[in-house]
Amino acid sequence: MSEKKVTVRQEGKEDKVIDAPEGAVFLQVLKMNGYSLVCCNGKGTCGRCRIRFCRNGAPLPGAADRIAFTAEQLRGGYRLACMHRVRQDCCIQVEFVESRQVEAVTAYKGGITKPAEGKPEEKAMPGGDEPYIIAVDLGTTTIAMQAVALSSVREWQRGGNLHVFGEYSCMNPQRQWGSDVLSRLQAAADGQAEKLAEAVRTALAEGIGQLGRKLGKAPQGIWAAGNTAMEHLLMRLDTASLGRYPFTPVSLEEMELLPEPEYKGPRIGLLPGISAFVGADIAAGLLACGFGERREESCRLFIDLGTNGEMAAAGKGRLICTATAAGPAFEGGAAANVPGTDMIALLAEMLETGIIDESGLLEDAYFEKGWQKGALRITQQDIRALQMAKAAVCAGVELLMEALEIGASDVEQVFLAGGFGYYLDVEKAARIGLFPAELADKVTAVGNTSLLGTCLYGGDPSLREKTKDLCRRSEVMNLAEQPGFEERYLARLNF
Ligand code: FES
Repeated sequence: MSEKKVTVRQEGKEDKVIDAPEGAVFLQVLKMNGYSLVCCNGKGTCGRCRIRFCRNGAPLPGAADRIAFTAEQLRGGYRLACMHRVRQDCCIQVEFVESRQVEAVTAYKGGITKPAEGKPEEKAMPGGDEPYIIAVDLGTTTIAMQAVALSSVREWQRGGNLHVFGEYSCMNPQRQWGSDVLSRLQAAADGQAEKLAEAVRTALAEGIGQLGRKLGKAPQGIWAAGNTAMEHLLMRLDTASLGRYPFTPVSLEEMELLPEPEYKGPRIGLLPGISAFVGADIAAGLLACGFGERREESCRLFIDLGTNGEMAAAGKGRLICTATAAGPAFEGGAAANVPGTDMIALLAEMLETGIIDESGLLEDAYFEKGWQKGALRITQQDIRALQMAKAAVCAGVELLMEALEIGASDVEQVFLAGGFGYYLDVEKAARIGLFPAELADKVTAVGNTSLLGTCLYGGDPSLREKTKDLCRRSEVMNLAEQPGFEERYLARLNF
């Protein structure tokens, strides 16, 4: 295969000439030469991999280009780097759209577990030799950590304060291999597994090191919870079976990150998970919200909104979990870089003012270029992405309730978890149909319950058995296999 010369221009940088194999995709060529980008990794849906061909050298635009760019931009040589291959010597200008920095939410709200009056958040300076643990929420998008006084974990369960000595958060560096779980699994299958593991291990070491230096002593233990794919990648476990039917994880047990004899530091444990799609982060969230009682008498629902939408329903002695891929819809909009919470508020407003109709269709005047509010632009594509995600969540909640044979009036409380959930305007979420309308007045946004549950798990050994029991007892529902899911999903697409 012959090589072609690609001259790369980027504002503020010197021109660079790359020898690229003929036929290589521009995005891969750029990424391999240090032009990093968090994107949909070549699906043509995020619109972030923008390049501009110089000197009329642009190839004919494809369908994805026509969606991403205006006619004027197409004439000006703009194309998506993931949609075109190197065919000849050329010159391109890199105009990548950097993703918005998503804030890692470490907050959680009071009243989410027994005792109801517990105040889970209070910062204090470390006192003397007081031991602490570090809890890690290993998210697909962000990594959040808290250093918590060990003694306060039990105090909190008795209604006292949880003493948080320090916090750390960063973006998950694996984002450069794609923003969602499937892209990471694909990258691992393409031989990048070791790089993915190294990237996240480095990020964890940095955060743990920073907290340790700040507090002047090492933690007594470090506990982390992530979804099943994140834990597998971190542990260097084979992820091949996670990406294909019947989606069997290598392990759902509690694991130890560095058990090698030469490692002398504090124990680094990973929480157990429930299934390939309902991971340890959800088990931790359920623990934090008081699920896991053997009798599960009161009917409660748990919805965690992030890159995936995971749901659980308890009642009548059962606990059933399920998950749906929400994509980036709940974590920043698709192309418009709009935070999910803002998206929901804006959609509610657009519905009120008739800018979109009940089917989600934008008025003619905005159909081509989208609707602009301040710096935010909402396109038809963004609206569709959120519609699909909210329809899947709503249909999932309905099917869980059906499986338990309970109605909305039986449900005592709905916990809406996840960083996104924390900032959510519950009324607006009900307006767009994120959950069945009859549940709206029972919804409490509880924030990052995965982090809180990990604190509890790490700080109180008696809760570890309870969590493992919860994982073993949980029934898992595969939405795609449920009769009636398709119809419900379609029926919930409208606002
Ligand atoms: S990477 Fe090209 S559109 Fe997302």
